[in-house]
Amino acid sequence: MSENKYYFCDELNNVLSCFHDKIMSCCSGQSCPTYIRGYKGEKIKWDFFWKKKEEAFSLLNDDNIDYSPCKGCYFLRERKINDVISPKFKFINISNWTHCNCGCVYCARIPSSKGKIDTKPRRSEYYDMLPFLKQLYQQELLDRKELFVNIQGGDISVLKEFEPVVRECLKQGAREFYILSNNIKYQPIIKELIEADKTTFVTSLDCGNRDLYRKLKRVDKFNDSVENLKKYVSGNHPERVVVKYIVIRNFNDNTESITEFINLMSDIGIRNVDFMLDNKYINDTNMGTIPSPPSYYKDLYLHFKNLCEEKNLKLLVWDKLRDLINNQMLKE
Ligand SMILES: C[S@@+](CC[C@H](N)C(=O)[O-])C[C@H]1O[C@@H](n2cnc3c(N)ncnc32)[C@H](O)[C@@H]1O
Ligand code: SF4
Ligand code: SF4
Repeated sequence: MSENKYYFCDELNNVLSCFHDKIMSCCSGQSCPTYIRGYKGEKIKWDFFWKKKEEAFSLLNDDNIDYSPCKGCYFLRERKINDVISPKFKFINISNWTHCNCGCVYCARIPSSKGKIDTKPRRSEYYDMLPFLKQLYQQELLDRKELFVNIQGGDISVLKEFEPVVRECLKQGAREFYILSNNIKYQPIIKELIEADKTTFVTSLDCGNRDLYRKLKRVDKFNDSVENLKKYVSGNHPERVVVKYIVIRNFNDNTESITEFINLMSDIGIRNVDFMLDNKYINDTNMGTIPSPPSYYKDLYLHFKNLCEEKNLKLLVWDKLRDLINNQMLKE
């Protein structure tokens, strides 16, 4: 008789992801275990989260995996003896709004925001984060000593609650932040966190000139973004800033554009650059089958990598993309 294997997922154990339309365990791109759908700011109960988490773990074995939304997930691994289900979350993803002050042609939020460009800060059109966060703290659902806060969006530039949310997390002892923004608007609180060595700040510039930026992002804000980057890297922790280059078909998928980007990064003192592909080649975002990246993307990656070595820039590649590059793109 074959042995019934048990599985574990560290995301399920540690992560709480607060999206605009649901509160769930992870942002793996898979339809993962979900705590609440269509949240509208109601009072939450600790027991409810715990029950959902336990239920999700109870399906992670060979007998029940067919009934679990986690089936086939990249993050699933065989359970070890010392894996224990934790009642608290160590990692919170805050992404409870979709409005943004730019309109990247590739943006994942387009289906919810219809690509609308907002310039004034306002409240989330779904639920407020601050009262939700306070409830989570009051009910001891967040691990105060280890908490890692990831803020995405939409864009923080147009979220009224951005700074109050960061301040609340700091007050409660959050250890580390990871903040994504299009970087069109300079944020003193981000500079403060970088100087305190408490955040990684990530932006996707995706190009090295104003014209291409306008085509990719549908706003004329290249110069603002570059000026803000210079301010963020000018202090004691330039290593806390990461600039992404997302390869987008028929926009920046050529070596000239990559060279221009890397030269600019080197000139303004950026230390970390992140090579990324359009998510449609990496994550299953309701598309059924995931298409393979075009074969010349391999050369773009190698060109990017070589330039990083030449300019002494640290090259970051997301784990899932690294696997795709090593196991598929470089083998073809
Ligand atoms: C939805 S954005 C929100 C945060 C912020 N507005 C920004 O653009 O950095 C979250 C992250 O997903 C990335 N992203 C959005 N659409 C993508 C796509 N189609 N492929 C790869 N990355 C994408 C963005 O560049 C950003 O780093
Ligand atoms: S196994 Fe995958 S889908 Fe399930 S919680 Fe973990 S990361 Fe999310
Ligand atoms: S800045 Fe971010 S949220 Fe805004 S359109 Fe671009 S990827 Fe989407």
